[in-house]
Amino acid sequence: MSDLFPKDFLWGGAVAANQVEGAYNEGGKGLSIQDVLPHGIKTPPTAEPTPDNLKLEAIDFYHRYPDDIALLAEMGFKVFRTSIAWSRIFPRGDEEEPNEEGLAFYDRLFDELDKYGITSLVTISHYETPLHLARTYNGWTDRRLIDFYLKYCEVIFRRWGDRVPYWLTFNEINSVLHFPFVSGGIATPKDELSRADLYQAIHHEFVASAAATKLAREIMPQARIGCMVVAAPVYPLTPDPRDVLAAMHTDHDSLAFSDVHVRGEYPGYFLRRLREEGVDLKMGDDDLRILKENTVDFVSFSYYMSVCESGTREVPAGEGNIVGGIPNPTLPASEWGWQIDPVGLRIVLNQFWDRWQKPLFIVENGLGAKDVLVEGPDGTPTVDDDYRIDYLNDHLVQVREAIADGVDVMGYTTWGCIDCVSASTAELSKRYGFIYVDRNDDGTGTLARYRKKSFGWYRDVIASRGATL
Ligand code: BG6
Repeated sequence: MSDLFPKDFLWGGAVAANQVEGAYNEGGKGLSIQDVLPHGIKTPPTAEPTPDNLKLEAIDFYHRYPDDIALLAEMGFKVFRTSIAWSRIFPRGDEEEPNEEGLAFYDRLFDELDKYGITSLVTISHYETPLHLARTYNGWTDRRLIDFYLKYCEVIFRRWGDRVPYWLTFNEINSVLHFPFVSGGIATPKDELSRADLYQAIHHEFVASAAATKLAREIMPQARIGCMVVAAPVYPLTPDPRDVLAAMHTDHDSLAFSDVHVRGEYPGYFLRRLREEGVDLKMGDDDLRILKENTVDFVSFSYYMSVCESGTREVPAGEGNIVGGIPNPTLPASEWGWQIDPVGLRIVLNQFWDRWQKPLFIVENGLGAKDVLVEGPDGTPTVDDDYRIDYLNDHLVQVREAIADGVDVMGYTTWGCIDCVSASTAELSKRYGFIYVDRNDDGTGTLARYRKKSFGWYRDVIASRGATL
């Protein structure tokens, strides 16, 4: 059947170390910025880890990963995306030698994935910069972060280059515009951060990403390296050309990040923005050459929502949409106000393919919802999460459409394939998983795992290569 997904399509799910592992101070791990963010990305960090921070224990994946991976294998996962917690490998970030215990944990994790033939997709830095680098260096505003990051990359590439085929340099690298601390480890509060420091940090991340790509090609030539961005298509609020232009400008804010990764140079519209904001980037002699010579193999992205923009009216940004933006009056929203737009996924896939002609990998998509445990037919607790099935089904149908449009899509990993702590709000009740984890926002719960209805649905989708959609 021609409408089946390709045979080698990478079906799977995604998490990040800080949202699942817990064990925040075990195995020689240092503190990461997440260990001082008990209430998510919109509230300031605490001085020290506090007991109300669910991420300190998260879902205890650090100890329970064998059972969890067995469940992912039961669904037929081809690929599993997780991150390496930078502060497990370099607890402060600026040490000379890595922490062997941290490395050994990921040896065991990759062994377990290999056991089931599940391919690993690793995010090198997923919102979990070592806290020391944030507090002592002000994160990526400091050029020395490039060397610390590259040292970390060299260690993990040498250790796992022969078994991890796909690597992402920075999670949602464009989110630094919105969340400088979470995304860029920048300790200066956002409203006090100068545009010069923000753009300088972005430049350092670009150079680090390109230099890591170079290093990856030297150490593990068979691996494929991708950038990772938040993809949220920007629609004009009306057909007024001024709205269309405003939407283009807002879209450019995000597209610049992949443009640099794919084309290896700063786009003209970005340079204009720097000029207009009076920002004069400080560059090393080789920076532009490094960017030009080390572009990515593929573009990966998260997709949760689209937004609207207007150049003619002041309309307040939506509450829920993480990237700001005007709510779309035609779309429904999740309980957290994230607007649901499956067609937007097809639009973004086409836009990215037309723009870069690079393979695309959807590495996050999913619905955060409050789930209620009920007794299943066999007496085991379950969740009748038809709303999640509908959401994922509708998005996958659009992926299939995009493939039919000619877009090269490598794979699809749903976000939070097992319930985990939310990045934006640090709640556990914002659940995305096929697997329910018995842990509540107040920290109570047995941590037991239960298959939701969507578990069987996804297993069938994978097994049928999408025929059951
Ligand atoms: C992405 C992040 O922005 O969205 C993930 O890369 C995050 O870390 C996911 O968990 C969903 O967001 P949230 O806030 O609902 O957990």
